[in-house]
Amino acid sequence: MFMPIYLIDQAIRTMSIALDFEPYRINTVEPIRISTRQERRRWLQEVEFNLFRLPAERVMIDLITDSGTGAMSSAQWSAMMRGDESYAGSASYQRLKEVCNDAFGIGNVIPTHQGRVSERLLVETIIGAPHAGRGMIVPNNAHFDTTRRMIEQSGAQAVNVLCMGGEGASVIAPFKGNVDLRQLEELLCERGEDVPFVMVTVTCNSNGGQPVSLENLRGVRKLCNRFGKMLFLDGCRFAENAWLIKEREARERDRGVRQIVREMFDLSDGAAMSARKDGLCNCGGLLLVRDEALYQKACGLCVLTQGFQASYGGVAGRDMEAMAVGVQEAMDESHLSCRVRGIARMEQRLIDAGVPVVRPAGGHAIYLDAEEFCGHLTPGDHPAQSLVCALYEHGGIRASRIGSVLRNERGQLLELVRLAIPRRVYTPAHLDYVVEVIIELRERVSAIKPAKMQVVEVKCGLEAALEIV
Ligand code: F0G
Repeated sequence: MFMPIYLIDQAIRTMSIALDFEPYRINTVEPIRISTRQERRRWLQEVEFNLFRLPAERVMIDLITDSGTGAMSSAQWSAMMRGDESYAGSASYQRLKEVCNDAFGIGNVIPTHQGRVSERLLVETIIGAPHAGRGMIVPNNAHFDTTRRMIEQSGAQAVNVLCMGGEGASVIAPFKGNVDLRQLEELLCERGEDVPFVMVTVTCNSNGGQPVSLENLRGVRKLCNRFGKMLFLDGCRFAENAWLIKEREARERDRGVRQIVREMFDLSDGAAMSARKDGLCNCGGLLLVRDEALYQKACGLCVLTQGFQASYGGVAGRDMEAMAVGVQEAMDESHLSCRVRGIARMEQRLIDAGVPVVRPAGGHAIYLDAEEFCGHLTPGDHPAQSLVCALYEHGGIRASRIGSVLRNERGQLLELVRLAIPRRVYTPAHLDYVVEVIIELRERVSAIKPAKMQVVEVKCGLEAALEIV
């Protein structure tokens, strides 16, 4: 007979140690090729200082984007094995539809291969073919590059209605991604007839991954109702936005992330989103459209350029399986808490060391103010590109020079370097190393030389490949 043995005195009923570790074990690893400074200097010259041309194995810590670069879970990989590749009636599509219905309350789903395709379908469905949008205007807290281009290609104007302070790099506020409701109201009053729909980007990548509060979204919805407008989310980072609402919006603190996500989407008429961020996938996107007639129209357009919408859109059945699992894992609070805490820790260490960063850090990246960082360089010296090259040469870290809407005190657009953190890829030790490299570079900043470059062509988003001559 077994007697119960208590190894711990019953007096100890609670644990006071925080569960401050990654909520996963690593079961597949990818080696990092350790390189020397001399090698990196040579490699940098070989690619003419354009880090987009650099072979990835020559990078030690790759923070060029958080898009499509996350680690998938064992549940996602195993779900992929049951991918149903049927042209019509795919079970994988059904599963994805059920997940979207459950998470977002919208079952009209078109899978796409990435976010920008969802944006194109949305614009073509509501506005029409190129030039059909002449005279129209689409407001958004801040349009991401691809969304802006898609809207402008239709002939319409893409306008940002970001809240006061949202463009200030040093303004510390919890919801710098909020829409300026007064500005939106004025726009709808003056140009309401010309507005085909309103968009809100959650989180707002263009000013540092800043969240939008639930209260603000409710305000946008109210205005949309008053003026009879549809509201679409750019929902790439929907889960991070929901987590930051839970952390920063006092009235929402006791709600679960799933509930908050559901309300965010309940307030909308649909969403265009990339699944390469919070969808935790290496490829994929979603277009969600609540209105049945519009959805049918979008399906008609999808079949022309993507594939049969009611089975696969533009992706394989296995990728739909990965998305279905990823969307659910993205809302796991221990994952979100660990991710956001890790980024906040980097932010705090950098601030303590006097490094100029965009504050507060949002959900997916650290943004460095390159002009202030490299105070010895002039704007003509391309401080952001110089810093990107220096980070690589000094520490083997690949970051990106990124366009933004952020401005300095003089109202000038900021030169930013973004260090985007891929999901579930790097450990705190990797991130500590990144912080140390930045701090050391800051201490030796006068050694950073101007990047000799000429911007020949700037395309969309991160494909903004700079031709450096
Ligand atoms: N919307 C936002 C807010 C984004 O950040 C992105 C992509 C897209 C739309 C387009 O999605 O790449 O799947 O077609 N952002 C990436 C980045 C490129 O690095 O921030 P996609």
